[in-house]
Amino acid sequence: MPSATINVMEAAARKAARGLIRDFGEVENLQVSRKGPADYVTEADRRAERILRAELAKARPGFGLLMEESGETEGEDTRRRWIVDPLDGTTNFLHGIPHFAISIGLEEDGAMVAGVVYEPLRDELFWAEKGVGCYLNRRRLRVSSRQRLSEAVLATGIPFKGRAGKHAFLATVESAIDNTAGIRRLGSAALDLAYVAAGRYDGFWEFGLSPWDVAAGIVLVREAGGFVTDIAGRPAAIGGGSILAANDRLHGAVRQMLDNSLKASDEDLAPKSLPPHGGSSRAPVRSPVAGDVCRRQEGAADNDASGTDRGSAAPPTGSGR
Ligand code: IPD
Ligand code: CA
Ligand code: CA
Repeated sequence: MPSATINVMEAAARKAARGLIRDFGEVENLQVSRKGPADYVTEADRRAERILRAELAKARPGFGLLMEESGETEGEDTRRRWIVDPLDGTTNFLHGIPHFAISIGLEEDGAMVAGVVYEPLRDELFWAEKGVGCYLNRRRLRVSSRQRLSEAVLATGIPFKGRAGKHAFLATVESAIDNTAGIRRLGSAALDLAYVAAGRYDGFWEFGLSPWDVAAGIVLVREAGGFVTDIAGRPAAIGGGSILAANDRLHGAVRQMLDNSLKASDEDLAPKSLPPHGGSSRAPVRSPVAGDVCRRQEGAADNDASGTDRGSAAPPTGSGR
């Protein structure tokens, strides 16, 4: 049975989704117009965020909010905040590609404790709560049980619009081409994590992500029995920039594969520092992060001040099981 918290998150997501479905229909029509649907999509995104903000604030008035479009709103309850992406998969939405989602995470005392990722077009509600498990609608989810990298299908995100980290990213892709059964790039990090939780993907990695892209998905993967860390193998942090999620048997092997490819890549990537938790109205898009991997050997500690998910169970470094 979903808790009252999950019910609140689900209701907010479903309400915002009604507008997105309507707007997506309109975007499909606008594809052929000369001006294109860009402004319309920006407005759809903002409308969805307004609905989510209103619904979440009405149900839990004291909680803080970190939302992609409107930034941070501090709440009276300084222990809890919602972390929200009203539309994850904007490029898909803009181009009429039917793959996007609403993502809502709940953070408590710096750890992610609940997550909802709702994919409106397939009516797939992925939800999870710490200690309760992970579900797709009413069905319990479990990560895949594949053990061999050579049989694994991995998802990733491709840097775009000149974001740094292209060469390091290409090195990781090259190693995945050589070692896995296939790579997918569907264009929504929140759904990528949900698909790992559902066993559809065996793993997912991406650089340069923002807190709202991963906040909910981290809980989904963990509650489905998977491991989620940054690329360097440290416990997943919503402000950490990079993410590596995989089933419990493959996480170590995927990490090792990525690590090896990054060491071989000669791109000089200095990680950017993060503002303290709650200190910025717009949490950073942190990229690139291959430098994290280089510094892993130096024993870099978890960055608690930037929203590290302290409750996370990281796999033993390098373990492939
Ligand atoms: C994006 C998606 C995409 C990922 C990008 C994100 P948005 O979020 O999650 O899959 O590759 O890095 O920025 O912009 O559609 O909310
Ligand atoms: Ca996003
Ligand atoms: Ca978004």
